[in-house]
Amino acid sequence: MVKKLNRLLITGASGALGSHCRQHLKDIARIVRVTDKLELAKSKGNQSEEIINCDLSDYEAVLEVTKECDGILHFGGQATEADWNTVRDSNIEGLYNLYETARLNGCKRIFFASSIHAIGFHPLTKIIDHQATIRPDTLYGASKAFGEALARMYFEKFGIETACVRIASCQPTPQNHRMLATWFSYNDLVELVKAVFRVPVLGCPIIYGVSNNDRKWANNDAVKYLGWSPSDNANDYNEKISHDMEEPPSTSDDFNFIGGPFVSFDIMTKD
Ligand SMILES: NC(=O)c1ccc[n+]([C@@H]2O[C@H](COP(=O)([O-])OP(=O)(O)OC[C@H]3O[C@@H](n4cnc5c(N)ncnc54)[C@H](O)[C@@H]3O)[C@@H](O)[C@H]2O)c1
Repeated sequence: MVKKLNRLLITGASGALGSHCRQHLKDIARIVRVTDKLELAKSKGNQSEEIINCDLSDYEAVLEVTKECDGILHFGGQATEADWNTVRDSNIEGLYNLYETARLNGCKRIFFASSIHAIGFHPLTKIIDHQATIRPDTLYGASKAFGEALARMYFEKFGIETACVRIASCQPTPQNHRMLATWFSYNDLVELVKAVFRVPVLGCPIIYGVSNNDRKWANNDAVKYLGWSPSDNANDYNEKISHDMEEPPSTSDDFNFIGGPFVSFDIMTKD
């Protein structure tokens, strides 16, 4: 890839991560196209930005939105646990629409915002790498595992490269004791996006979206070739967090599972 993208599509551009990247990735492509199911206001100071509203579950609309894009930063979708229809429409149907129209429109590289909830039942007390078994903790987590599998299939069959980024807790600052292990800073996210679209050959790697925190549980050695190394460390906030709130007991899900409290969420069953 290396040379500047011609047109980058950012999905979920109304959301927390999409709107941050919209502001901080203006130079990554000649044109940035933003989309969301919610109405998007024009961004100040970026004349070359294109806005197209669409729901990812609408195939014809997604076919239009992915036209002439050579890269996609995919944040759009249901971003936490919900009822099955919501998860299915946005993260299963929506993802299929994205990949199938990317194929038809000749887009060759995608950053897929997966989640640690695809592997949420792994213990947070051990180090895991890209070979960790899929262990979703929710319907949401299972939809992200589906997304990773779909990305892999489109890579094997059609050569579409995807960074499957298992994002941990991407927040402006760590909010609690658990995030001393799971925090992923906005700055480290933006640098990862740049690395994914800059590297000449990406492949279809699994990447853990987490900062360089003292409390480690993820090994990203398999993607050293990206030239990305996160620089922020949640430990810088340790004192503030300890001052602001009481630490939960060490036996709590927060500390024992990568998925934290999600492992004990009731999934929305039919009965
Ligand atoms: N923020 C995190 O810590 C975190 C952690 C793990 C994974 N992720 C993933 O990163 C992505 C972005 O997360 P976020 O925190 O910005 O979430 P967010 O909820 O703030 O943003 C998601 C956006 O997607 C849009 N959207 C939802 N369904 C849609 C549909 N059917 N069609 C079109 N647009 C739709 C929403 O309107 C919203 O603007 C999500 O896919 C989420 O699963 C985020």
